[in-house]
Amino acid sequence: MEPQKVASQLRCPSGAEAPEVAQRMNESNYSLNQKCIGLLQLRASDSVLEIGPGNGAFVGDIINVAEDITYMGLDWSAEMVAEARRINEHLVNLGCAQFQQGNSQQLPFESGIFDKVFTAHTLYFWENPSEHLVEIRRVMKPTGLFCIAFGNRAFMKDLPFVSYGFELYDESKAVALLSSSGFRIIETYQHHERGRSNAGVIVDKVIDIIVCEV
Ligand SMILES: C[S@@+](CC[C@H](N)C(=O)[O-])C[C@H]1O[C@@H](n2cnc3c(N)ncnc32)[C@H](O)[C@@H]1O
Repeated sequence: MEPQKVASQLRCPSGAEAPEVAQRMNESNYSLNQKCIGLLQLRASDSVLEIGPGNGAFVGDIINVAEDITYMGLDWSAEMVAEARRINEHLVNLGCAQFQQGNSQQLPFESGIFDKVFTAHTLYFWENPSEHLVEIRRVMKPTGLFCIAFGNRAFMKDLPFVSYGFELYDESKAVALLSSSGFRIIETYQHHERGRSNAGVIVDKVIDIIVCEV
């Protein structure tokens, strides 16, 4: 796939290729998503929001951490919402998981309802990121935790698709953005992993993970 096409599919998987794109993302991003799930400190009865879950392949891993966790996945790709509902049909039918189409710039939720919010590999695509972050903060409970993960600029900058509309971050740029949007940083991590990138080549990935509170 051409780098421009890869960029567009990562931003918003669409069309007939979308399910396969999502499958590849799941393989590339498995370890990182498991790390984020661990950092969310999930507890019984937590209400969780994920921004940009793609096809929602890891929802079961979230629900199974503790009893009565409920999950909401919000993705701006209609194809991903449909795939996520299909893959997680049993959890949707049980009432544990829901998926909606939408954009974190304007969240279709009441204020103060989520205990935990997380998002992996989405920040690059947000045009006015502080508007997204203020919205995320609005829907969180005062005791809530937010976990955000993104590829560090030092590793991402050499990937062929990032010149097509990716805004790249390092830890200090993201910390400044989160702080100015009202979050208090609790912990920052760097996740290192050798694996296949979405461009198909093996790379040494450096992923920043930031955990914050409201
Ligand atoms: C690169 S994929 C990452 C998918 C998944 N989080 C992972 O780690 O494999 C980005 C996903 O987030 C969605 N997305 C990006 N920004 C979004 C936003 N602001 N609101 C809702 N969905 C968003 C895209 O449609 C896509 O499914």
